[in-house]
Amino acid sequence: MLEIKEIQIPGYKKVIEAHDEEAHLHCFIAIHSNDLGPALGGTRIYPYKSPESALNDVLRLSKAMTYKAALAKSGTGGGKSVIMGDPSKIKTKNFLHSFGKVVDSLNGDYIAAEDVGTTAEDMLIIHETTPYVSALPTETSSGDPSRFTAWGVYRGMQAAAQKLYGSPVLKGKTILIQGLGNVGAKLASILFWEEANLILEDIDLAKAKKEAVIHGAKYLQNSHFLSAECDIFSPCALGGILNPETIPLLKCKAIVGAANNQLLDDNAALLLAKKGIIYAPDFVVNSGGLLNAVAEFDSGGYDAKKVRGKVNHIYDTLTEIFEKSDKLQKSTLEIANTIAEYNLENKIGKREEAIKFIPK
Ligand code: NAI
Repeated sequence: MLEIKEIQIPGYKKVIEAHDEEAHLHCFIAIHSNDLGPALGGTRIYPYKSPESALNDVLRLSKAMTYKAALAKSGTGGGKSVIMGDPSKIKTKNFLHSFGKVVDSLNGDYIAAEDVGTTAEDMLIIHETTPYVSALPTETSSGDPSRFTAWGVYRGMQAAAQKLYGSPVLKGKTILIQGLGNVGAKLASILFWEEANLILEDIDLAKAKKEAVIHGAKYLQNSHFLSAECDIFSPCALGGILNPETIPLLKCKAIVGAANNQLLDDNAALLLAKKGIIYAPDFVVNSGGLLNAVAEFDSGGYDAKKVRGKVNHIYDTLTEIFEKSDKLQKSTLEIANTIAEYNLENKIGKREEAIKFIPK
């Protein structure tokens, strides 16, 4: 039997925990904010060590989605769901249907999406028990978000180059990319045609070698990659990569990457500023994927060109953040947070039209 209970967390609109023993489901959904629209955020399946660590993760991730959405003016709020378990073992139709019922119980205040441990095909199965699912793999869907995320990172790099060198041109600049997955490999391709010098790193050495050949790049194969001399370092793998151990090693002038939660904590932003490294906040840089997924809900239907225009705007948002950071002598993270909070308070970018979901 499916049991759903609410957990009171100050500062969060709604947090629920659900159990379904028969379906082997134990999950949490957090809605941090609905101030600008329904909370859209991925469904993560991960072998968390304890319910506490799963709850902490969903709280942290849903709050980050609020800030990302507010800055991108995507007309969505911040939410996330996490399911405890190994995604390679736990996923059955019954399990995904049961999770869909949990999503359905929130009546559209939370919209599920693909994330670590879930696929577009899983979303189709979840959709059989709830309409509140985004980016379904149908003919009219928005498709792979990573091409928009990669383009947004590229636009962020142009803004950083403009600040560093007075020109957005990346030709001849040395760029270090960590993580050559969906986003990192597409970013490498964009930069290849721009004639940037690439240094690539991935935990999967075969992948790093292959991408290096394709992009006429160098590859590095151990932790020394962090101290490679470069203009821009682009973390496109894991969170927490910017911390007191790694920051002293860095020899880049700016950091612009797709990975979520790159800073281990807020202090890392201050360490970077002290070192004179320009940090482009991850939740500003990597909002291209969100903007693409949300575009499916536009009343006129998904329009890739419209999304491109919005993703291009990441350049202007970052430029504004860099300028304010200089003027007010505050870290770029603090400035980005302040703009997001201003947008939230003043309902800037709030969704006006109700979303028409595809019926389950
Ligand atoms: P992915 O899973 O396709 O690629 C990640 C890559 O990083 C893989 O090639 C993997 O081998 C490598 N990797 C994993 N651990 C590593 C380590 N310790 N050192 C070096 N390389 C390592 O993921 P994707 O979609 O490319 O996303 C990359 C990052 O960007 C993730 O943090 C993701 O949360 C974030 N992001 C992705 C978006 C998207 O549209 N795909 C949107 C917003 C954020």
